[in-house]
Amino acid sequence: AVPLGLVGASAVLLVLSALGACALDTYVAAVYEHNVILSEDTEVPVSPEEALMLMEKNIAILEVAIKEAARQGAHIIVTPEDGIYGWAFTRETIYPYLEDIPDPQVDWIPCADPGRFAPSPVLERLSCLARNNSIYVVANMGDKKACNSSDPKCPSDGRYQYNTNVVFDSEGKLVARYHKYNLFVTEKQFNYPKDPGFVTFNTSFGSFGIFTCADILYHDPAVVLASRLQVDTILFPTAWVNTLPLLSAVQFHSAWAMGMGVNFLSANTHNCTLEMTGSGIYAPDGPRAYYYNTEMDNGHLLVTELSSHQTASINKHSFNGVVYHDLFSFVELTESKGHRAICQQDLCCHLSYKMVKKHQDEIYVLGAFDGLHVVEGEYYLQVCTLLKCLSTNLSSCGQPVEMAQTKFEMFSLSGTFGTSYVFPEVLYSGVQLAPGEFEVLTDGRLISRTTTSKPVLSVALFGRWYEKDPPHTAQASP
Ligand SMILES: *[C@@H]1O[C@H](CO)[C@@H](O)[C@H](O)[C@H]1NC(C)=O
Ligand SMILES: *[C@@H]1O[C@H](CO)[C@@H](O)[C@H](O)[C@H]1NC(C)=O
Ligand SMILES: *[C@@H]1O[C@H](CO)[C@@H](O)[C@H](O)[C@H]1NC(C)=O
Ligand SMILES: *[C@@H]1O[C@H](CO)[C@@H](O)[C@H](O)[C@H]1NC(C)=O
Ligand SMILES: *[C@@H]1O[C@H](CO)[C@@H](O)[C@H](O)[C@H]1NC(C)=O
Repeated sequence: AVPLGLVGASAVLLVLSALGACALDTYVAAVYEHNVILSEDTEVPVSPEEALMLMEKNIAILEVAIKEAARQGAHIIVTPEDGIYGWAFTRETIYPYLEDIPDPQVDWIPCADPGRFAPSPVLERLSCLARNNSIYVVANMGDKKACNSSDPKCPSDGRYQYNTNVVFDSEGKLVARYHKYNLFVTEKQFNYPKDPGFVTFNTSFGSFGIFTCADILYHDPAVVLASRLQVDTILFPTAWVNTLPLLSAVQFHSAWAMGMGVNFLSANTHNCTLEMTGSGIYAPDGPRAYYYNTEMDNGHLLVTELSSHQTASINKHSFNGVVYHDLFSFVELTESKGHRAICQQDLCCHLSYKMVKKHQDEIYVLGAFDGLHVVEGEYYLQVCTLLKCLSTNLSSCGQPVEMAQTKFEMFSLSGTFGTSYVFPEVLYSGVQLAPGEFEVLTDGRLISRTTTSKPVLSVALFGRWYEKDPPHTAQASP
C-alpha cells in the first residue's frame, strides 16, 4: 500500500479548489493498471453479499491508487474495464454484481445522498472516493435495467445488462454513464445498447468523451467523439489482450491518439497469463507515460500532465464561408509559413506551406468541407483546399477570384478522406494550370515539386464520395 501524506493531500486540495472556477491550460491525468481479483467460479451464481465482497476487495485496491493519484495532484483517474469484478461470466452469474445506474441527468451525488435510488453500494463507494479525494473517478461496472413484454426486444429474463462506464466529478456527482456499444465476442453476459450514446462532459480542464475497449476498432462512438464532437480527451477503460504485431495495447492506443489528434487515457487490466498489460497517457504528439510489464503481477499507477485542449485548438480560430453554396470551415494562414489543420465532420485537412513572400493585402485560408452538395445537383463532397480570399475581409473567403500575387515555395496538402476518388487541383493566377509543378504521393499528399512559377489561386483535394450520393433519379439538372 502507498502511504497517503495527509499534509500533501490537503495542500493539493487547496490548490485545486483555488483553481476550481477558471479554465486550465493543462491538467494532471492518472490511469491505473489493475490486477483484478477474480471470482473463484464464474459458472455458478453467488449471493449479492458474496458479489459485493469481491467487488469491495477490488475497490479497496483502486482506492489506494485513487488516493495516491490525488496526492500527486491528478484531476482525473481512469480505472480498467472489468476492474471491479473480472470476466468470464454468464448472464446469470454476472447478475448479482450489477446495479441499476440512473441517467446522470438526475443530478445525483451518491456519497451525499445514498439510498435515493435502488441499492447501489458500488456507486456510493466510487462517488465517495471521488468526493473525499476531490478527483474525477472513471470506473467500469455493470448496469441492469428491468424490461417487460411491452418491449419486444426485452430479453426473456426480463432485464437488459450493460457493460458500463461511470464518471464521478470531484464532488462525487455522477456526470457520465456509457453503455459499451461494441461488445467483444465473448461478452455474452451483456446486451448491446440500442444506440451508441455519444457520451461527453465538460470540465474546467477540457472536454471529455468516453468509450470502452473494442469500441476503439469501430466508427461509432469513437470517431464521432474525437472528430465531430471534438472532445479533447478520451477516457478508455479496457481489458485488452495484447495481439502482436499490430494490436498490442500501448501500440494501438497511442496510435489512435495520434491519428485522431486527441489525448487518450487508457487503463488496462493486468494479467500476464492472459497477456493483459499496457496502459498509458497519450497525447497527439506522442505518449506522456505508459506501462507495459509481462513479468510482475502487481498493478501500476501512471500520473502525468497533459494539455487541456486538443482538437479544440485545431478549429480554434476557424470560421465559416461559402464555396459554391457549400458551407466550408476555414482557418486563416496568418504566417508566411507553417502547418495548419481544419476539420469538418469526419474530414480533417492538413497543410504545410511556405510562401515566397506574405503580401499584406492578400489572405489565404485552409478549408474543409464534408457533406452533401444540394444546389444544382445533389452529390457528396469531401474537399480540402488552400485558397486565396477575394479581399482582406474574411467574409469574402470562398468567393470566385481570378488574380493573385503570392507564390509558394512549397505546399503539402492532405486529408482524412473516406473515398478513394480524390481529384488534385492546382490553379494559378489568371486561371492557369500548373503542368509538372505538383504531384500526388502514394500516401495521398498533394505536394508542390518546385516553387510555384505563378501566384496561387487555389490548391485542392476535391473528393467525391459516390456511395453517399442520393439514389440516381431521372430528374434532369436545371
Ligand atoms: C469519505 O469520507 C467520509 C467522512 O469524511 C467517510 O465516512 C467515508 O468512509 C469516506 N469514504 C471513502 C470511500 O473514502
Ligand atoms: C413494463 O415496463 C414499462 C417500462 O419499463 C413500465 O412502465 C410498465 O409499468 C411495465 N409493466 C409491467 C406490467 O410491469
Ligand atoms: C461542452 O461545451 C461545448 C462548447 O462550449 C458545447 O458545445 C457542448 O454542448 C458541451 N457539452 C456538454 C455535454 O455539456
Ligand atoms: C489471470 O487470469 C487467469 C484466468 O482468468 C486466472 O486463472 C489467473 O489467476 C489470473 N492471474 C492473476 C495473477 O491474477
Ligand atoms: C466584411 O464583409 C461583410 C460581408 O460582406 C461585411 O458585412 C463587413 O462589414 C465587412 N467587414 C469589413 C471590415 O469591411
